[in-house]
Amino acid sequence: MNRRKILVTSALPYANGAIHLGHLVEYIQTDIWVRFQKMQGHDCQYVCADDTHGTPIMLRAEKEGITPEELINRVHGEHSRDFAGFLVNFDNYYTTHSDENRWFCEDIYTQLKAAGLIEVRSIEQYYDPVKEMFLPDRFIKGECPKCGAKDQYGDNCESCGAAYTPSDLKDPYSAVSGAKPVMRASEHHFFRLSDARCQAFLREFTRREGVLQPEAANKMQEWLGAEGEDKLSDWDISRDSPYFGFQIPGAPGKFFYVWLDAPIGYFGSLRNLAARTPGLDENTYTRPGSDAEMYHFIGKDILYFHALFWPAMLEHAGYRVPTKIFAHGFLTVDGAKMSKSRGTFITAESYLKQNLNPEWLRYYYAAKLNGSMEDLDLNLTDFVARVNSDLVGKYINIASRCAGFVSKRFEGKLAAVGTNEVVMALRGAATLIQECFEQRDFARALREVMLLADQANGYIANAAPWVMAKQEGREAELHAVCTEALEMFRLLTLYLKPVLPKLAAEVETFLAVPPLSWSDVATPLPEGHRINDYKHLMTRLDPKQVEALVEANRESLAPTAPAVVPPKAAESQQRHAEHQQHVAQAAGEPPSPRPSPGMGEGASCGLSGGPLSPEIGIDDFSKLDLRIARIVNAEHVEGAAKLLKLTLDIGEEKPRQVFAGIKSAYDPATLVGRLTVMVANLAPRKMKFGMSEGMVLAASGEGPGLFILSPDEGAQPGMRVK
Ligand code: MSP
Ligand code: ZN
Repeated sequence: MNRRKILVTSALPYANGAIHLGHLVEYIQTDIWVRFQKMQGHDCQYVCADDTHGTPIMLRAEKEGITPEELINRVHGEHSRDFAGFLVNFDNYYTTHSDENRWFCEDIYTQLKAAGLIEVRSIEQYYDPVKEMFLPDRFIKGECPKCGAKDQYGDNCESCGAAYTPSDLKDPYSAVSGAKPVMRASEHHFFRLSDARCQAFLREFTRREGVLQPEAANKMQEWLGAEGEDKLSDWDISRDSPYFGFQIPGAPGKFFYVWLDAPIGYFGSLRNLAARTPGLDENTYTRPGSDAEMYHFIGKDILYFHALFWPAMLEHAGYRVPTKIFAHGFLTVDGAKMSKSRGTFITAESYLKQNLNPEWLRYYYAAKLNGSMEDLDLNLTDFVARVNSDLVGKYINIASRCAGFVSKRFEGKLAAVGTNEVVMALRGAATLIQECFEQRDFARALREVMLLADQANGYIANAAPWVMAKQEGREAELHAVCTEALEMFRLLTLYLKPVLPKLAAEVETFLAVPPLSWSDVATPLPEGHRINDYKHLMTRLDPKQVEALVEANRESLAPTAPAVVPPKAAESQQRHAEHQQHVAQAAGEPPSPRPSPGMGEGASCGLSGGPLSPEIGIDDFSKLDLRIARIVNAEHVEGAAKLLKLTLDIGEEKPRQVFAGIKSAYDPATLVGRLTVMVANLAPRKMKFGMSEGMVLAASGEGPGLFILSPDEGAQPGMRVK
């Protein structure tokens, strides 16, 4: 066999927040793929680390009254515990705040400088004279230059959606100290991405067969611009003191921007692992010219950094570039963004504390992951149904129905596995299932496995060993049926092992076989082999457990956001507080459009909702009275093909009744309890089915799909939207 050498990474989680179910989409997915590769017998290293540097972490530590080092050490413990709890088996979980990482950062910087790709120039930026620090865009607030909304961030307005730079804000103030910031010049170090060598390399790299998923490759072409257009501007890779990070060599008071040192942290973690692993040569993975492969699993929000900046850095500093970048979509829960008020912003810790089995979630995610960049929905009702019917009902059932006979009637010893059709089908599926795992189409792999489990159950039901057991003279038949069934169970376990490693280990103990690897497909349980007594392998998931989990997260996660981060800001907006700043700001140049952090929306080319309506003034707009409404009830309307009847609470004495044409897109049960936005001053309208006292807003485009709006965390019924 050709033993591949594979380095795999997941993105490095920020060291100032808890791991939640959204993160786990990535770590579980990567872990499954790595375990699969290891089962193939490949030499696979899975490295990760905490992403520890930057302003938010510095300020967070300060607020807690501890040093950044203390903060990141504590969080490292919490993250390691959570990942272990979900059976995410890193070969190394390290930190970016390490000597190894510092070494690689300095080396890469030095090489880029030698190649003429680092330039130092002065830029003007807001400075907080009280706090005595330069302010990242997200730490400056003020009045929106377009619509006048107050308390908007330095990079875009949450009220009207306008994008701008902090210097456009009216009456700016520092979100750290409240002080009025002043413009101050300072020297910054830029990575010259605008250099022809970088543009040419990235153009070629992002088009290499299979390096990026098609959707990602398209996005990159958009960001790079057409041939000769050369849209990339230089990347600001330095930050001024005070900053928690690495000093730039030969530049006192200047630090590497966190997004420079974060991906380099993959190598830092690898070096740290290599130092204690005999036979692991770091250079095999980090230097060009070897046949080793390197894969990065990431969320679609950080594609820009991984598909452009990181490969450009590596290429021009004499390192190898990624083999492939696997981007995935974002998690929604019951069709909506995770929400603290709904209790769906679920932390890894709370899931484990509530005693839910981590393998239930691993299975559910796997059943939904297909290697694309689409978002993935955790539907809590479906979660319960799926786990119970597939894992308990189909898979575990096979062993529980047959094992007892072997123990009681045959001293735990097996008969010979023959040429049973279902066993043959199971063995024959190995290549297909292997290919599905390799392509990260776990959903398809599990569909195939469950179809085979159906066949196995059909075989057992048909043979009915429990009947044989009661009939005289059918001992040999009973023995054969149970043996075949256990061989089926062994094969199913083998295929499920990347997803359910703990359960598989328990099955290995039960069957008394060494750890299963992929090649064991061809080696059936031998005749006369003695198995152990069957112990219950997995319980059913009780819907009450899921309810309790949601409840626990609703209570325990009341707004406790750090003071420096406004409580209203959504998690997704905070996450990259610093990421985008200076992506495209070179002194004197107008800022070029920034990559939108979420892919797909807001593309600058053709609007999917049709051309824009004629311009209006703010007075026209303010005639609309938009309010946050809680949907207290939603139901079908007899005889109405498109309408749902909604009862909306906007804090008035009596709730409003509104008929909304959203039946095609929503099951009414999923709407109850949600917050949305309604037009509250629309004249009431008499309809065939009754009065409609307002209107809810929903988005739609050329394609199918209708999407009602949800306000951000913290909004209350009755609040005005303006
Ligand atoms: N620190 C950066 C990554 C640096 S990599 C050199 C970061 N950290 S993060 O904690 O915000 O996210 C870590 C990973 O989890 C990212 O790949 C991100 O896309 C992913 N996810 C975070 N929230 C997620 C969901 N709600 N859903 C799916 N993936 C999510 O980004
Ligand atoms: Zn605005």
